[in-house]
Amino acid sequence: MTTTTRNLATLLAQAGNRCDPATGAISVPIYQTASFGHPALGQSTGFDYSRSSNPTRLALEETLAAIDGGHRGFAFASGLAAIDTVLRLFAPNDRLVVTEDLYGGTFRLFDKVYRPLGIEAVYVDTSDLDALRAALADPRVRGVFIESPTNPLLRIADVRAIAALARARGALTIVDNTFLTPCLQRPLDQGADLVVYSATKYLAGHNDVVAGAVITRTPELSERVAFLQNAVGGILGPQDAWLTLRGLKTLALRVARQQENAITIAEWLCTHPHVRRVYYPGLPGHAGRDILLREKSGWGGMIAFEVDDPARVAGILSGVRVFLFAESLGGVESLITYPAVQTHADLDADTRLRLGINDRLLRLSIGIEDAQDLIQDLEGVL
Ligand SMILES: Cc1ncc(COP(=O)(O)O)c(C=O)c1O
Repeated sequence: MTTTTRNLATLLAQAGNRCDPATGAISVPIYQTASFGHPALGQSTGFDYSRSSNPTRLALEETLAAIDGGHRGFAFASGLAAIDTVLRLFAPNDRLVVTEDLYGGTFRLFDKVYRPLGIEAVYVDTSDLDALRAALADPRVRGVFIESPTNPLLRIADVRAIAALARARGALTIVDNTFLTPCLQRPLDQGADLVVYSATKYLAGHNDVVAGAVITRTPELSERVAFLQNAVGGILGPQDAWLTLRGLKTLALRVARQQENAITIAEWLCTHPHVRRVYYPGLPGHAGRDILLREKSGWGGMIAFEVDDPARVAGILSGVRVFLFAESLGGVESLITYPAVQTHADLDADTRLRLGINDRLLRLSIGIEDAQDLIQDLEGVL
């Protein structure tokens, strides 16, 4: 049986196993070394210097490629370092069509780092295919950067349709798959060229490591990303690569439980008199539900909701006892976030309001706790 014929749960559970022929260690060792000795002039063990490659990082990178069905995987020091490396594939005067309500840090990277360098983002609602088609008509567009579901409003893009449109125009499709993970959404199978992750979130899964990942579809893209990873050097260290591999082993179990909890909590929130609106892709009537159903995808573990009165927000954030008021998402512990002042503070106030990121909106990252404990916690503060 080859790696490619194995199921995702098996690949994940055995991530990094049997990597050490010298000792037979089941768990891949943490190769905490900067450099590797050479047997003789002109010879190499396959490892020379840890920026270029490191066995612990390589075990993670091979797992990342396998679980997303890609050609190669690359591990970075953070999700933003991964995205930054992908953006270096573009040149001055190139344009990218970008999801308008994307993670604030990615917006900041486009706006404050790449725009001054001449690489410009054109923001569109990527859940609207007509808007996307219109934006792609500009011949300067060389790429499409999609976050789906979006952060924090959980809008869903039709990745398959977008990738086909982009390819017809000679543009690369990049998908930030942080929210759904390869367990629930497989962008490369849908025609995307590159997948990026904040591996800090679901992939590592325990709120104890900051990491990023890129997975490529073709040998040509692998070669270009491998060059950039080594040339720019934003690599993941061996300790954090090991923690990420360790987290990946339970990804399928965690995501299933987080989604199960999220469905229960989203349905409960819909019935609460102080909740004005609930954003969760699994709810009937959600605009993206049919796309996810068609792709045999899932809904994930993220929920956003609006309370009836913004004056409640401060009390909710200081009153929760099971949820933790903290940034980030995707870990085993449930977190609550206030996007307007935390994750999306880098968007100007008008843009935030136009997108719906208002002062009533709260975001939940649902963990693996008991769903009833989470509901009781919310009931207490609402
Ligand atoms: C969807 C998404 N992409 C990218 C990032 C950036 O990842 P990192 O914080 O690991 O740099 C985040 C961080 O919250 C995110 O939510």
